[in-house]
Order: sequence, then C-alpha cells, then structure tokens
Amino acid sequence: MDRGELLSREITGQRLLAASARHSFDPDVAVDWNAPLLDATPFMPLQRVSLYGTQLWEQLTPEQRVELSKHEIASVMSVGLWFEVILMQMLCRYVYDRDLRDAHPQYALTELGDETRHSVMFARAVAKLECPDYRPGPALHQLGRLFAHTVASASMFASVLVAEEVTDRLQREMMHDESLQPLTRTISRIHVIEEGRHVRYAREELARLVPRLRRPELEWHRYLTSVAAYLIIDNLIQSRVYRAVGIDPRLGRKVALRNPHHQQTRRWMGEKVTSFLDEVGMIGSTRPLWRKAHLVA
Ligand SMILES: [Fe+2]
Ligand SMILES: [Fe+2]
Repeated sequence: MDRGELLSREITGQRLLAASARHSFDPDVAVDWNAPLLDATPFMPLQRVSLYGTQLWEQLTPEQRVELSKHEIASVMSVGLWFEVILMQMLCRYVYDRDLRDAHPQYALTELGDETRHSVMFARAVAKLECPDYRPGPALHQLGRLFAHTVASASMFASVLVAEEVTDRLQREMMHDESLQPLTRTISRIHVIEEGRHVRYAREELARLVPRLRRPELEWHRYLTSVAAYLIIDNLIQSRVYRAVGIDPRLGRKVALRNPHHQQTRRWMGEKVTSFLDEVGMIGSTRPLWRKAHLVA
C-alpha cells in the first residue's frame, strides 16, 4: 500500500473515531425498556412483511398481521445479531495483525464495541417481544463459524456491507414511521446512526482493496460475497415466524418467496449496497446469484 493510501486510511480512522466520540449510544439507558408495548400497533411496516399482498395475508386478521410483524422483526434482529457476532470475530482477527497505534485499526476496535452493544440490544428486544431465538439452524450456524474464522480482506468487508446495508434500509424507514411501536423505532434509530459509520469504514476500505486484487483473487472474493449475500437475505425471515399466526412454515416460506411484494422489498433493501458493490467491481460474474436472491433485478 502506498503512502497516499496509508494516509487516506488514517484519515478515515481519525474521522470515524471522532464521530464515535461525539455520537454513541448506550442502549441500556437510551431505550426505555420498561415502557409497555402498544396495542394494535405494528412492529415493522406492514407493507414490508413477507406475506403482504398475498392471499394468505388477506386471510389474516388485523391482530394476526401485527403479530406477524412482531415475529418478522424479531427474526431480523436475531439474524442481525447472529451476523454481528460473526463480524466481531472477523474484526478481532483483523486488528490482531495491525499496529494499534494507528487510527484505522483503533476504529475497528471501536466498531467491535458498537456491535457488542447492538447485539445485547437486539437480544434484549427479542426477549421483551417474547419471541423465540430466530438465529439460523445448525447447518448455517456451523458455516457461520467457518466464515468467522477464515474470511478476510475484500469479501469480509463486502459481506459485512451487505448485512449492514440491507438492514439499514429497513431500519431507516422504520425510525421515521410514527405508526410503529416506539421500541422498534428507537432501536432502529440507534442502529442506523452507529451503522452509518461502519458502512463508511467498510466501503472506503473495500474501494482501496479491490483494485489491488489479481483476477483469480477478485473472482474468489466475488464468489464468497455473493454466497454470503444470498444466505444473509434468504435467512433474514426464518420460516418459523409463520407458526406465530398458524401458518405452516413451509407454506409461508413458499408463498413469501413467490410474493412479488416481498421480492420487491428485497431489491429495495439491496439497492444501495448492490449499486456500490457493482461500482467497485465486486459483483461482475456472480450477478446470477444476486438475481436469484432478489437483491438485483
Ligand atoms: Fe450493528
Ligand atoms: Fe455494524
């Protein structure tokens, strides 16, 4: 890495450290954990619920629709914290090799600190909503372990971006939506503000890393990223959520996957991150898998 790049890395690190010092949250005090949940109030926008617009949706009562919105956002939070725990391990490996007098790896540690608070916040929220632990099943659990221990460089930053930016899109909409439960709105707002810095860190590092990859390396990182993106978006809503409203999980999932509204929601969630990844050259030959995941048209 030349001097210019090293300098730009340091500047990124210093800016993000300063922003973190100015604006970080302790969810323990920033969230009113004792406030009762509101009656008949959705937990996420109903039009973003996976079955919205289908015949199954039409058959649900208004109470069941709210109930499903609760379980779907609990699933997003559970899967989100599952990925955060993977990310924390990757960040830890990343800083292990670096000189911690530099601002850039210091920011990686600061991000790790943010993620520990987020994961506690999400876990606490899922418990408060009285929802099950919706983290992915045993196969993906093991794959996540492998990913956490091995993935580095471009595919690490790119898959982190996918997880962060798709949830960010949803949470940004939620924090402004006054028709939703205050609890899920507050959590969204805290997460959006802190994740904005993480997104910037990963985007800027990715833009530095990709031009230095040789062709076979680039293809490998593209491949890993596309698989991670597919698994992340495809697992965000666990099929067990449908049980909460008396729908067979297999049927619910089948209907959701074919639901044009849900496919459109996935593309909307992926819109910003996929256009960035495309711009830096991280999609290329792997586009069919991104399409299969309904993350690009
Ligand atoms: Fe987070
Ligand atoms: Fe993050």
